[in-house]
Amino acid sequence: MATSDIKNVTIIGAGILGAQIAVQTVCFDFRVTVYDSAEGAFERSVGQFEAIMSTRKKGPAVPIEKWNDGILKVNTVSHMAQALQDADLVIEAVPENLELKRKVFKQMDELAPPRAILATNSSTIPVSRIEDATNRPEKCLNLHFYTPVTGLNMVDIMGGSKTTPETMTAGKQWLSAIGCVPLTVKKEIYGFCFNRVWRSVKRQVLYMWADGFVDHKDIDRAWMLAYGLPVGPFGQMDINGLDITYQVEMSYYHESGEERDRPPKALKEMVDRGDLGVKSGKGFYSYPDPAFADPDFLK
Ligand SMILES: NC(=O)c1ccc[n+]([C@@H]2O[C@H](COP(=O)([O-])OP(=O)(O)OC[C@H]3O[C@@H](n4cnc5c(N)ncnc54)[C@H](O)[C@@H]3O)[C@@H](O)[C@H]2O)c1
Repeated sequence: MATSDIKNVTIIGAGILGAQIAVQTVCFDFRVTVYDSAEGAFERSVGQFEAIMSTRKKGPAVPIEKWNDGILKVNTVSHMAQALQDADLVIEAVPENLELKRKVFKQMDELAPPRAILATNSSTIPVSRIEDATNRPEKCLNLHFYTPVTGLNMVDIMGGSKTTPETMTAGKQWLSAIGCVPLTVKKEIYGFCFNRVWRSVKRQVLYMWADGFVDHKDIDRAWMLAYGLPVGPFGQMDINGLDITYQVEMSYYHESGEERDRPPKALKEMVDRGDLGVKSGKGFYSYPDPAFADPDFLK
């Protein structure tokens, strides 16, 4: 399929990332349909955009009026078959769980037209572990988005074991067509491009915090001062969601089987308590006014 043939884009899973992918895409005049198994998921995720933007002190790469108009143009449907019936490109953004993703990919394959490209927004799992749940592995790929709502418009793109060059080209061109920068992974690797770099930072800082070496606020201060950024690694994990952070770290742990890759118990305890970061109002910081946003934080 050529990029010019992609007109209808379907997102499966309208959580915090799925909703952002939907809005970024619709802003560039593609028809976007969203399906989530939980009613009202898209609206709930949109309700979190403001908090994410103010925490990150950044907005989308498109003018905010266009972004807000885009929210209204996304078509949400309550049946998966309806969402997929006319799709040219499908992006799965359900929770980070291999079995769930394989189940959803099987449904996507059964319900989408044979021409459709099937992509996963997984933060870690190579599509080669999912592609054989479908009858079209040559049209499967990883498209891993970051946070378009804060203007982070780069996307890791990686093929599976049978992905054709045509599918990769269509994916890259489509990303450019929705104002995103493709980061091409040339050879399969767990965590793709930038996400793997970010993961090394997370593993190290979580260890330093959980084992009581350094206060998380000092790690964030150091990061913010060193790189001139409005948020440090702990604030960023709050933005991403600590439940998702935990799932992603567990995914790396299952991949390597090495004890040093297991996320700290203290992170799991926060998730079990419901301290999920920005989305629950409490994580490493309290929201809507986290300590790191106070100008005195860096004094
Ligand atoms: N949060 C991040 O910063 C981030 C960044 C990049 C990629 N990702 C990846 O994107 C994916 C989604 O993450 P998220 O943060 O948006 O998660 P989330 O928990 O906010 O959203 C997941 C959504 O999927 C829905 N869902 C669950 N099962 C479903 C099914 N069978 N069919 C349809 N919908 C279903 C849930 O109701 C929920 O709304 C994960 O693979 C994650 O690793 C997350």
